[in-house]
Amino acid sequence: MLTAAARLAGVAGWPVSHSRSPLLHNHWLAQHGIDGAYVPLPVRPEDFARAIAGLRAAGFAGLNVTVPHKEAAFALCDAVEDSARQAGAVNTLLFGRDGVRGLNTDGAGFLANLAAHGVAAGGPALLLGAGGAARAIAAALLSAGVQVSIANRSPERAEALRAHLPGLRVLGWGDRDCAVADHGLLVNTTSLGMAGQPALELSLDRAAPDLAVADIVYVPLETALLAAARARGLRTVPGLGMLLHQAVPGFAAWFGVTPAVDQACHDLLAADIPAR
Ligand code: ATR
Repeated sequence: MLTAAARLAGVAGWPVSHSRSPLLHNHWLAQHGIDGAYVPLPVRPEDFARAIAGLRAAGFAGLNVTVPHKEAAFALCDAVEDSARQAGAVNTLLFGRDGVRGLNTDGAGFLANLAAHGVAAGGPALLLGAGGAARAIAAALLSAGVQVSIANRSPERAEALRAHLPGLRVLGWGDRDCAVADHGLLVNTTSLGMAGQPALELSLDRAAPDLAVADIVYVPLETALLAAARARGLRTVPGLGMLLHQAVPGFAAWFGVTPAVDQACHDLLAADIPAR
């Protein structure tokens, strides 16, 4: 039961029906007995700025922002944290008296998920893809002192990323199989391997035995890439944990409690997602 003092937050996307964030945040709200709610908000791109102004006026504490609004959210913030500036995008908005503050928690969520799987952010890291997720993860790894190489189908997008993130190495998409040998961490940030998308074609034949393989795709829970890595005895880091960890800073800021990323919340979301 919500009172008039309920704290409110949500996720804005277009579409938003696929988002698992409401399930996760409402689980945490119930777990902590918090007077609050977290709602899915389908917001058309052309309505985004008006929706933010309206939700602020209605007393929302903030929002998560997903596709296609992450760049628009960055543009309308009054202040952004370094994480958002480096990523060029915002996935978490905090509404305060002095304006809207933007964070990007994807990179930190990725690093926290690595740590939760016992994988040190050592590297050097080979990232496949050059979209928004790649930029946030590359920025976080570079900030952690890791050497990062990136390979993307469209070379101009990889070059554009390098313009924002000095220190990034750009490799050809066709060189990815060979490049596996020189890296300690492999990360798929493309949509390849996701249910309904083409498979990621990548050979792990040259992988060193201590290679760790991470995928940000979490539908299915174990992608073909992760299954192939596991079959070779390599350490694997599934994508669902990143979704869980990236949600923590927003929840803590809006609702005043730092939630635990535990087996219960993992299982709650996993129950909704095909295993393979
Ligand atoms: P996000 O912002 O979520 O990372 P995105 O910007 O759409 O999503 O990026 C998707 C990534 O998957 C890109 O790196 C894209 O490569 P291009 O930059 O060449 O488009 C990659 N990707 C998608 N389909 C692909 C395919 N069939 N082969 C290779 N890469 C693909």
